[in-house]
Amino acid sequence: MKNIVVLVSGGGTNLQALIDAERRGELGGGKITCVISSKADAYALRRAKNAFIRTRVLERKDYPDIAAYSKAMADALKEAEADLVVYAGFMTILDGQVCDAFPYKMMNVHPALIPSFCGKGYYGLRVHEEALKKGVKVTGATVHFVTEDCDGGPIILQKAVAVKNGDTPEILQKRVMEEAEWKILPEAVRLFCEDKIKVVDGIAVVEE
Ligand code: GAR
Repeated sequence: MKNIVVLVSGGGTNLQALIDAERRGELGGGKITCVISSKADAYALRRAKNAFIRTRVLERKDYPDIAAYSKAMADALKEAEADLVVYAGFMTILDGQVCDAFPYKMMNVHPALIPSFCGKGYYGLRVHEEALKKGVKVTGATVHFVTEDCDGGPIILQKAVAVKNGDTPEILQKRVMEEAEWKILPEAVRLFCEDKIKVVDGIAVVEE
């Protein structure tokens, strides 16, 4: 059984999708053992408590710089004996010491088809605002391994979602979550827990 630690900052709908998938036995035997939030008031913490999952809060403002925050996070993840770390709407960029401690053992869900609309500054609703500004007709979501390169790690799964006339960022965000994120994130976690993802020359190869 693999210990899964989920990092959150906000509403936690992706965390909820993972909790629901685990209940249905769809995480390949993986178990969510701890949820760590970068915000003390994140609704995601309530979702974790409702599911009787241990929670911790690590707020960036309690540390002098990103290196100290990253060290505290790496220590918390080691203490939780994480086999897999999932960024589920986690909005703080950590430095290399965390990636080095968990190489290809951290994954992130991003609400666009990487390499579009990604990197520093592209998070949450902002991603959908930019997609609508550009007028793309297809967007989607990506699950990728976390490396030091923000949103640049090996891509595990992607799913496309149509953009429709009259979409607002909020409407598009909801469609991307429902049709893509809440499906491909639990699926990527299952594949990881079943040892079906390998990284070869910087590319994630998924065996099915
Ligand atoms: C999700 O859309 C997630 O993909 C995005 O934030 C939202 C969090 O929602 N993450 C990023 O933009 C990371 N770059 P949730 O808290 O309801 O899961």
